[in-house]
Amino acid sequence: MTILTRISEYNSIHRANVRRWHVIILIVVLFLLATTSHIRRPFSTFGTPIGSVHTTPIDWQDVRTYNEEQCKLLFPRLFRQADLAREWYRQNGGISRDAVDAAEKDGNARVIIHDNKLYVKKFAGGWHSRTQAVLAALHDTILTSPEPLPNVDMVMQTGDMSDGDLPLFALSRREGNDKLWLMPDFGLYSWPEALGPKASSWFEVRQDTLDHEHRLAAKQTSHEERRSMCSIAEPQSWSNKIPKLLWRGVPMTEIRKGLLAATKDQPWADVSEIHWNDMQNTPFLSPAEHCDYKYLAQVEGNSYSGRLKNLLQCRSVIVTHPLTWVQHFHHLFDTNITSPARNMVEVPLSLERHLAKAIEHLQDHDEVARRIASNSWQLFQRYLSPAANDCYYRYALRAYASVQTFQPTIDETAVAYESFLLKGSTRWEQG
Ligand SMILES: *[C@@H]1O[C@H](CO)[C@@H](O)[C@H](O)[C@H]1NC(C)=O
Repeated sequence: MTILTRISEYNSIHRANVRRWHVIILIVVLFLLATTSHIRRPFSTFGTPIGSVHTTPIDWQDVRTYNEEQCKLLFPRLFRQADLAREWYRQNGGISRDAVDAAEKDGNARVIIHDNKLYVKKFAGGWHSRTQAVLAALHDTILTSPEPLPNVDMVMQTGDMSDGDLPLFALSRREGNDKLWLMPDFGLYSWPEALGPKASSWFEVRQDTLDHEHRLAAKQTSHEERRSMCSIAEPQSWSNKIPKLLWRGVPMTEIRKGLLAATKDQPWADVSEIHWNDMQNTPFLSPAEHCDYKYLAQVEGNSYSGRLKNLLQCRSVIVTHPLTWVQHFHHLFDTNITSPARNMVEVPLSLERHLAKAIEHLQDHDEVARRIASNSWQLFQRYLSPAANDCYYRYALRAYASVQTFQPTIDETAVAYESFLLKGSTRWEQG
């Protein structure tokens, strides 16, 4: 045996060992998740950099660099919406360059991923900093990918009401429209215009809501709740929450007006309008402050409601009407009243007719309500984590590329994302 073949044999044995170790580590992680899925436990294999004892361990849910296999093991139910879109294009001839060219007119940005670099081909702005946010999130997701991503040529649309027949990456789509690809919401990056300079990044929203829940839990825990405590990490805050339905917002639709009418002067409700142009006098509440309430109303506006992901960071019960608009995580909602995994309460329309009964039922069955809140908290802490968001995005990019019928190329109109970020444009004068 020559030295070379011995080295290559050694290498392949070594690689097999490494693979075996990966599998063993993942099985251990999965076991921990299965038994304590609600614990935001430091992920010791990633969290303890050698030689630095003073570093705070990184929560496994904040690790951005999981590979494909790890992502599937950690978030097995995350990828359904990307699968649906891929399936539609697989059965309908795939995505052609012509279709992407056509989509560009309806889009807020056209981007190309080529050799793991991001290029901006067209940027058309949009409401607030939404389009910048989805571009930045895409760039993060590429940079943190431990594996190469396929080349992709795609159009992103950041309006509320994405619809139609073109292969766009959208924030939401109507139930049943599988031609649109869903990307993680811009607020899973940051929404500085709405949330201000202190707590607008997603990691801040998560930290604030978690801290708030722990403060609530620290007040005083009821006997029942202490008995049912399954972990110290899940904040046992339930008995210290206000047993009312909370909502703040702009009543721009019939359903929202219905909510206002249904809750007017009701002892079980704390619902009021927000006037964006009169912020001094409107009772605005931060995402964390919403966690003070046991029941949180979720009502669609013109389309999906951007605050839902924030509400889901509270250990509270989301009370919703049947939803028309879908985001990338909505298939995880379980409103089935006999399901042990029920994590949300769905009230049929009209709210004037059905809402009071639903809230009274929850108030009369506090243990049921507490379990729904706990199910929701456990699932969405995990499935809306930074780790999950990157895993989903990379999966969706691979799914999209797998049905692309052409090889994306860089032309003279495409600008490196780094330069676009600095200039805010794809055109500028040199010098
Ligand atoms: C609701 O949950 C129960 C119990 O898990 C299950 O048997 C039933 O099929 C579910 N119903 C629907 C409509 O999914």
